[in-house]
This record gives sequence, C-alpha cells and structure tokens, in this order.
Amino acid sequence: MVPNKFKLAVLVSGRGSNLQAIIDSIEKNALQAEISLVVSNVKDAYALERAHKHGLEGIFLDPKSYPDRNSYEQSLVEQIRSKSVDLICLAGYMRVLGKHFIEAFSDRIINIHPSLLPAFPGLNVQKRALEHGAHFSGCTVHYVNEEVDGGAIISQAVVRIFDDDDETSLSERILEQEHLIYPEAIQLILEGKLTLAGRRVLHNK
Ligand code: GRF
Repeated sequence: MVPNKFKLAVLVSGRGSNLQAIIDSIEKNALQAEISLVVSNVKDAYALERAHKHGLEGIFLDPKSYPDRNSYEQSLVEQIRSKSVDLICLAGYMRVLGKHFIEAFSDRIINIHPSLLPAFPGLNVQKRALEHGAHFSGCTVHYVNEEVDGGAIISQAVVRIFDDDDETSLSERILEQEHLIYPEAIQLILEGKLTLAGRRVLHNK
C-alpha cells in the first residue's frame, strides 16, 4: 500500500516565491509532501496564479466578507480541516492569526521570517537590520504562536550584511536562503525528526 502523502496548506498574500520553492521541492521529490490547499487573503496575489499553474487548489478568502476576525478564521479553519491537512505553512501571509485559529491547529502552523529571530520581528525587517547596523541577518523558520514572529525556532540561515547593501540587495540574498530552508524544515517535520520542547525545537537522535 502506498502511504498517504503528508498534506500541506499554504497561506499566502503576495508574490508567493516561498510557495514556489515548496512546489519545486515537491516536484523534485526533495520534499515528500503534497499541497492540498493554497489560501490567499488578497484577491490578485500572484501566489494564487502560481498555485493554479501547478494544478493546485488555490482560493481567495476575503476577510472583508466576514463580520469579524473570528468568523473569518472559522471559515479558514473549516477550509483547511476539509482537506485533512497535516501542516499549515505561512508563506508571506500578511494577516496576524488569532487565538482561535492557532488553537485549532496547535503546533501545526509554521512561518518563514526574513531575519534572525528574535532580532527584528514584524515588518520592514531588512530596512531595520540595515539601520541598526547589524553585520549579519538571515531568515528563520518557526512555529507560530500568538506572539508575532515569537514561536519556537525550527531553523535559521545566516546572511552577511555588506557595506554597500541596500534593502533590495539584502532582501534578495535573504530570500535565496528562505527558499532553501523552508522546504528543508517541512521535510524534517514530516520525517518526525524534530521535537518541540517548550521554546526549543530539538533534533531527534
Ligand atoms: C518573505 O520574505 C517571507 O520571509 C516573509 O514574507 C516574504 C514573502 O515572500 N514572511 P513570498 O511571497 O514568499 O515571495
């Protein structure tokens, strides 16, 4: 019997280059998962086009058509549950998820963030790293909890900041690393190689 594939839902809001990296890793069989659903909160997100090009189900769920955050998130929960998803990957998803959603999928939501957390959570991250004079930045895959960019760290990649870097050049070099570490982190999770122990993610021996 062929074992069931590990199922992902990917939540997006924009260009979807991390979604593309996940798709490419699956197509190369470097990631033994399947994407069961892509959900965008932005109608014309390019990420949805990427999903459709690869024959994936991609839907736009409009937050404005719900009376409040809870009912929007309930609808999101139902969509994802209907696909029996194992892991939810935020990939440039620009809405903060509330308690309701996070509790529904406890320890099964991960995110990629373009800094070395806990430095520079939130927005305008590369600009802030440059303004601060940091010599290194990078990216972080982490579990999602109610604190923005505050969940346990799964993996990180370090990127050197050069004197002539600007926001664009730094973002591009960080993004290259994001595309490597995000699919790798998903593969580690699906292989059961990680244990979440409080704030720490430990690699099983
Ligand atoms: C990435 O830099 C990611 O780290 C951040 O949002 C950006 C999304 O880019 N959370 P993309 O939509 O995956 O191209």
